[in-house]
Amino acid sequence: MVNRIQDFEIVPSDQALGAEVRGVDLAQPLSGELIHRIIRAWERYHVVFFRGQSITDERQLEFTQWFGPRHAPYPEMPILGDISQPDIITISNVTEDGLLGGGYIEPHQDGVYLPTPLAGAVMRAEEVPDSGGDTSWSNLIQAYSELNPTMKRRLRNLKVSAFNLYAGKTSRRDLGGGKQWFSEQDSTAQAHPLVRIHPPTGKKILWVSCLNSETIEGLSDESEASNLLLELKAHVDQDHLYYTHRWAQGDVLIWDNRCCNHKRESIPEGERRVFYRSVIGGCRPY
Ligand SMILES: [Fe+2]
Repeated sequence: MVNRIQDFEIVPSDQALGAEVRGVDLAQPLSGELIHRIIRAWERYHVVFFRGQSITDERQLEFTQWFGPRHAPYPEMPILGDISQPDIITISNVTEDGLLGGGYIEPHQDGVYLPTPLAGAVMRAEEVPDSGGDTSWSNLIQAYSELNPTMKRRLRNLKVSAFNLYAGKTSRRDLGGGKQWFSEQDSTAQAHPLVRIHPPTGKKILWVSCLNSETIEGLSDESEASNLLLELKAHVDQDHLYYTHRWAQGDVLIWDNRCCNHKRESIPEGERRVFYRSVIGGCRPY
């Protein structure tokens, strides 16, 4: 099937972000104009997905690189899954080299502790549980816009640092079966603007990761800083800011890691969930 522009359709969710792209077979060639429209949809809706796809690892990497460059390897970033294919990691509760087990995962961005955090990530669903394992993304641009003017002024010029989740993990088990592990020294926190700009739109993002934002920098009073961080973590985790995705086998989904947190519900015992993730490098936040 050749992908035709007249079959192409973007269907926004009725939630705070997210859209389905219909009428596209990602295994087949796409015109530059169609690719451009998909990229614009990603920038506007932040989470964009395609149902019923059947693509190879190589095609997933091609698709990923429409949105930005490969993520350069960092020593702080583990390779999880097949070490011969470090650009695709296995996110699974069943495979020997899979990552993350089956529990609830708190809202976070991926690689937020890096000097140049990831701009986005692609997930391809190979096996999906009958129930559980839904992923939800929250809209951090909307979270910023809903702050009152006093709070917006208070956040100006502050920075936030995040810790590396993988630091201090000394066994394969701690890393969910990963092939690498890291010492405490790998936990060097990176401080970035607490309110950062979304490069494609110029909009402001409240850049707080509930799981691994660690310290707000720029306030002299430490308890004020930690209370403010707790308040902001609660603010970005409000239900109305989320889009929840019920996965189906064959889904290909891309999210904007700059302006969304994601969290995952737990997976019931005995259910299998196997996903393949690739990532897009980002710029230094400003
Ligand atoms: Fe994640």
